[in-house]
Parts: sequence; structure tokens; C-alpha cells
Amino acid sequence: MAGRIPQDFINDLLDRVDVAEVIGARLELKRAGKEFKGLCPFHGEKTPSFHVVPDKGFYHCFGCGVHGTALTFLLEHDRLEFVQAVETLAALAGMEVPREAGAGAVRRNDRRSALFAVLERADHWFQQQLRQHPERGRAVDYLKGRGLTGATAKRFGIGYAPPGYENLLKALGGGQTLEQQLLEAGLLAARESGGSYDRFRDRITFPIRDGRGRTIGFGGRVLGEGQPKYLNSPETPVFHKGRELYGLWECRQALRDPERVLLVEGYMDVVGLAQAGVPEACAALGTAATADHLEKLFRLAPEVVLCFDGDGAGRRAAWKAAQLALDALTDGVSVRVLFLPDGEDPDSLVAKEGAEAFRARLAKAEALSSYLFRMLSDGLDVSVLDDRSRLAHRARPLLERIPGSLVKTLMYQKLAEMTALPVDALEAPPEQPAPVDAYGDAPLPAGEPPWAGMAEAFDGEGGRQGPSMGPPERRGADRPPRGRIKRQRADRALAFLLRRPDLADGVGEDTLVALADAPTEAGQLLGELLTILHQSPGLSASALLGRYVGTAAHDRLLELAKAPLPFEGSALVTEFQELLAHLAVEAATEKRRQLLGRIRAGDASQADLETYLTLKRAAAGVDGGGTR
Ligand code: UTP
Ligand code: MN
Repeated sequence: MAGRIPQDFINDLLDRVDVAEVIGARLELKRAGKEFKGLCPFHGEKTPSFHVVPDKGFYHCFGCGVHGTALTFLLEHDRLEFVQAVETLAALAGMEVPREAGAGAVRRNDRRSALFAVLERADHWFQQQLRQHPERGRAVDYLKGRGLTGATAKRFGIGYAPPGYENLLKALGGGQTLEQQLLEAGLLAARESGGSYDRFRDRITFPIRDGRGRTIGFGGRVLGEGQPKYLNSPETPVFHKGRELYGLWECRQALRDPERVLLVEGYMDVVGLAQAGVPEACAALGTAATADHLEKLFRLAPEVVLCFDGDGAGRRAAWKAAQLALDALTDGVSVRVLFLPDGEDPDSLVAKEGAEAFRARLAKAEALSSYLFRMLSDGLDVSVLDDRSRLAHRARPLLERIPGSLVKTLMYQKLAEMTALPVDALEAPPEQPAPVDAYGDAPLPAGEPPWAGMAEAFDGEGGRQGPSMGPPERRGADRPPRGRIKRQRADRALAFLLRRPDLADGVGEDTLVALADAPTEAGQLLGELLTILHQSPGLSASALLGRYVGTAAHDRLLELAKAPLPFEGSALVTEFQELLAHLAVEAATEKRRQLLGRIRAGDASQADLETYLTLKRAAAGVDGGGTR
């Protein structure tokens, strides 16, 4: 146990530190004669009544009456523990904190506060170098070139780590203890041969602060081109990349109760947005956003807008982040997704178009639910039954991640609307990892019908998706070939027809023509069966099968005929028709592809050309009439 800190030392310390410097590092203060004035951080106000009096070492607010020293300020404003507050001030003053008794043992907490203290001193020193170092010109030019004002630099504590390998330790006073602490804080790197060197050299420094405003690490940017563009502090006992957000503290300083916060990608995005008048932005530190990050953001505001570049990488990041966001979606919070124009990041965009236009974009950002369902139904046609089933199958595991019961219910309602399935059927957790189909059928009897597992098979189909946009889990190595899926669709229709040959009655001539070009044998067989039934209406199922005795198709058809029907009545008719419609479109597409091949190769007949054009026109009509 470390001993008590002597009162004499504290008095001494308060004499030495500049209360205006301590407070000025945390608030915007304006000089007023021998005093400084600013907006009181302890109560909301629009005109400054908070006075800092360096000569007397205290502050006083004429608005709310708070009063205190540099030490009470750290306790109340930064909400530091007493010991940490003292250590922080001691570090500023370059003093060692003495202990009255038993000072030998160093507690973990003391070690942590020593790290905080050393980080604060380094922070202070980097900022000073931006003002004083002989080579500061290049750094200042770089920042000016990017449009940064001095006030912004101050607000974010932006500094400059000068060139050279042995600056920091010397500047902070040297010594083995300090070296050890700087190593542990990630500011120095160890040399293999022993000794240490500065990690950040000739870089702009961005202090990363924790929820209390304590500096816990740095990001360092090269001036201009160079690799790596950003160098970040390594993981240390006080700095964990996956948990911290750059700009969170600054955002809280600027806004008491923001309506929303933005999650952006870069340091400069946070800084640029704040300067332009959008102070409510934070960035994950070069890692993908985590649920931890989102929870932190929701503590600040009830709405989080995820901002992404419009390029492919941005879209992939968005899809990942949106899924993660589901884990943090409690009742009463909301998430929206904003895609920026290709080639822009928030920093460049807000500089170009200003805060107002940027805010207009924010206002139009897409709700997470809408984005999610848009992504999930990408490449699907929800007017087709199979696709609706597939949508339900894809969506369920995601919706199950939502912790908020109200949001979850709303999301299921939306899914129910889109799939025309009852909410109950959707919400009931599947017994098996994946439903066989979306009708809530009883488990299929032994000897699974050929379409069992169709829903899963669909989940492996990537061909109709937009470029690299689909949910990543569909890209499994074991994804079935597309042919199998098409065959399963045809098999399902065949099985229905073999049990209920009268289904052929409602099938139009054009479907028969189209199916003749089906890309699978099963599809062609289906066309054949339908043609037979058209020619001999009223033919029984066994008579139909009888026509195939002795052919290669017989066993297959027999097997299909044994499969039980999933349902009766009009639902069966509807699905049969939808299956046929789907197969007909597929067949027409295949035919078109073949014809196009012939046309390109130059050996298409006049008839081919005409057929192609007819099919193309028909397809345009079908697509145009679809739901997408
Ligand atoms: P960006 O390259 O988009 O950063 O990387 P930026 O903030 O827009 O950079 P400039 O200054 O305007 O060119 C986004 C984030 O990824 C991390 C940083 O956190 C950066 O802000 N990053 C990027 C690194 O950690 N290291 C790198 O080399 C690059
Ligand atoms: Mn940028």
C-alpha cells in the first residue's frame, strides 16, 4: 500500500501549477485582464460567467457559484480520483508525489495513474513542439494546408512529434523510471540492443482521450505522403484500440446532450467535421466498429449514424457494422447508415459543401432496418414465393441478435410484411439451425423429398447478387452449384404435378414453350409432362407415370411422386404457379443467352434474331413489372 500524500506537498503543488493552464487545456478560455473567462462547464450557459484567476490559483462561476482550485477542477470536471488528480498536476509541474509511509509497494492503480501522468506530460510536450520547435514550420504548414485552424488544433490537442529518435525522454527529464513508464505507455519503443527510442517522429500527433478526457494514446500522421500514414500507440494497460473512440470526449465537451452521434472512419474526419460545425463525430481507431463502440455511443446519444465511403470497401465495412449494430440495438436507440459519394470522406465532403449540406445528408441517412432489409433482399424478387422464403431464412438469424424486444418485434413485423408470412411463424425459433422451408411445415418424414434443404441451398446462391454486397455468410466454401438449385425448383414443381396432375389445367401455352428451353433436365421434363397433360386432359397420375416406364426418367419421377405435399388447396396452386413462372423466366433467360451467343458468333438465323428480340422485350416487361 502506498502511503498518504502529505498535505504540504499538495499546497506546494497548487502553488506551482497554473490553474489557467489546467483549465485552459479543457475549456475555451478568453483572457480578460489578469483573469480568464469562459462558459461554465458545470451548468449550461450562453454567456461566460466562469472566471479563472491564475494569481490566486482558483476559479469561480458567478452563474452557479462553483468555486475551487486546479485540484478540485480535476476532481469535479474530469472526475478523477484524488490520487490521480494529484499525479496529473504533479506531472504537469514536473514534481514527484511523495508518500508519508509504506511508499515502497506500488499498487496497480498507482502504476496506471503513473501512465496517465506520463501520457499527459507527453501530450503537453507534443503540443508545445507545434508552437516552439525549430522545425514546427513544416507541421504548421501541413495543418494549414489541410485547412485546420489554430483553435481546432488546440481543441483536439493536436501536436507535433519532432524528427529524431531521442527527444521525448530527455525533454521530460530523463531517468530510468521515466523511461520505463514511457515504454509502458507506448511512447518509446525498446531497442533490441537495450535502450529505447521515440516511437513518434516527425509526425502530427492526435491525442486519444478516454471518457474522462485523460490522454491514453496517440495517433501520429506523417506530414504528407509516407508509410504508414498513421502510426498508433500500441496496446498498453490504459489503451485498448477496440474499445476506445477518437473524439468521444471532445464531442461530449462540445455538446451536453447530442441528439445523435456519427461514427466515421478517420481522425481527420472527426477533426474536420468539428471544425466545420459538426462536432458530434467519433472514429474507431483504424479497426472495424465493435458492439462495444456502439454501446459507448449510445450512452452519449440515442441515435448513431454510421458513415461510410461510397466505395466497395466502404460498403463492405457498412454491412459488417450494420450486423454488429444489431447486437447493440436496445429499445429506444436507433442506427442509421450514410453512404458518402464515391471518393469522398466526411472531412473532404464537409470542407467542400459545408455543415448545412452535410447535415442535410445526415437527415436523409437510411434507417438500419431499411438498409438491412434492402441488403437481405438484394437479388431476390419478393413477388416470388421461393425468394420470400429465402429472405425469411436470411433475416431470422440477424433479427435474433437484437436485444431490444420492441425493436425486434417491429423488425419481425416488417419481415412478415415483406414475406407475407405470419409473424408467429417467423418468430418461432427454428428447431434445426435452418428451416427446411418457410411454411412452418411439420418435420419431413424419413426419406426426405428431393427439395429438402432447398432453403439452405438458396443461401449458397451468389450469382444473382450485386457485386460483393451480399451477407458474407453466403460465401461459404460448400455452396451448392446453381444448377442444383434450379433442379430443385423444377423437382418441386414436378412432385406437385405428379400428385395433382390437374394443376396442369391452369398452365398457359407460353409457359410450355418457354420450358422447352429449360436449362436443366428436370425443367425440360416438367415441360414435357405439362405438354402431355395438355394433350390428354384428365390423365391420372399413375397413367402419367406409366408413359415413362422403361425410360431413364422413370425412377426419378416415381421417387418424386412419393413425396408428400406440403399443403393443399389454393396455397398449392399458388405456389405451383409461382414455381412455373420462375422456371419459365429462367428458361427464357437461358434461351436468350444461347441466342445471344449465336448472334455474337455470327451464325444466328433470321428466326433466331426474331426470337431473341421477342424474349428480350418480354423480359423487359417482366422485370419492369417486378417489385424491385
Ligand atoms: P483514412 O486513410 O481514411 O484516414 O484511414 P483519414 O483520417 O481520412 O486520413 P487523412 O489524414 O485524411 O488522409 C482511416 C483511419 O484508419 C486508421 C486511422 O485511424 C485513420 O484515421 N489508419 C489509417 C491507420 O491506423 N493507419 C494507417 O496507415 C491508415
Ligand atoms: Mn481523409
